[in-house]
Amino acid sequence: MSRRVVTLAHYYTEPHIQQMADKVGDSLELSLYAKECEADTIVFAGVRFMAETAKILNPQAEVILPDRGSTCSLVTQTDVTALKAWRESYPDHVHVSYINSSAEHKALSDWIVTSRNVDDIIAHLYAEGKKVIFSPDRNMGAYLNFQYDYDMPLWSAVCEVHDKFNQAALDEAFAAIAGDKYLIAHPESPLPVLQKADYVGSTSGMLNWIKAYNQAPDAVIFVATEDGILYNMRKARPDLKIEQAPIYSGCQCNQCPYMKLNTQQAVERAQAGEGIRIDYLSDAQMDAARLPIERMLEFSRRYYQ
Ligand code: 13P
Ligand code: SF4
Repeated sequence: MSRRVVTLAHYYTEPHIQQMADKVGDSLELSLYAKECEADTIVFAGVRFMAETAKILNPQAEVILPDRGSTCSLVTQTDVTALKAWRESYPDHVHVSYINSSAEHKALSDWIVTSRNVDDIIAHLYAEGKKVIFSPDRNMGAYLNFQYDYDMPLWSAVCEVHDKFNQAALDEAFAAIAGDKYLIAHPESPLPVLQKADYVGSTSGMLNWIKAYNQAPDAVIFVATEDGILYNMRKARPDLKIEQAPIYSGCQCNQCPYMKLNTQQAVERAQAGEGIRIDYLSDAQMDAARLPIERMLEFSRRYYQ
């Protein structure tokens, strides 16, 4: 019998990589798909923490990451030994971690969240009277503290792509447009950018906002996130003026260098069985990391279905 190979791609991969995939989605959608798909091999055209999550949720499957270098700055900026000491300094707090974290990091967490469900899960914990610490994304945590008046102590790592968006560049771009303009943004962006945004949400949340848009037809809609998803947005609504939010650094491309390592050649090699096998996590490590992820999936099943 032939191997059943399922290819998953995140919205930040190039359009031709998305076209090679069985499923394209945000982190939550891809995690759920990885857990439930009947695959012998899952090729994950995304970054390492996503492939690790797929392996943790579907340990029977062989999971392959096309390129060794596909990491994430939220992972590389987090020293897990220091994180453990930080977590232990808040013994009476619940530790909520963003899914953009290593398996070791997840194992030190009580809950995992994605940008899709982070607001609801933390609101639920506060409603239960819990005290919360949040890691690793400082920008996302600062936004939640501001938006809901929380007082969560925050770990300090950032997404190197989203952290480049800034208010001054946006103010300049807005001033150059006489008509209507909007900003939608991913919550990994800095707080002053998020405070300016008409909508803040996950990649699929922003895509859904674009699909449902029914305001001024001539407005310019700036998008503060990685540029891969602009393909999906323009395909869904070719009638709209959708622009990347500007940044003030040398390159204006807003690209995640780690996602873009998923080249056609690398994905094809992975589909043929080559690439980085996610086979280095012990059963104990996977069990410890699965617990807080399953808590999130169970919450999502109860609250969103
Ligand atoms: P989403 O879960 O919104 O797809 O975000 C993943 C990510 O890495 C954003 O930089
Ligand atoms: Fe990580 Fe940022 Fe790339 Fe997302 S865009 S994978 S948070 S470095």
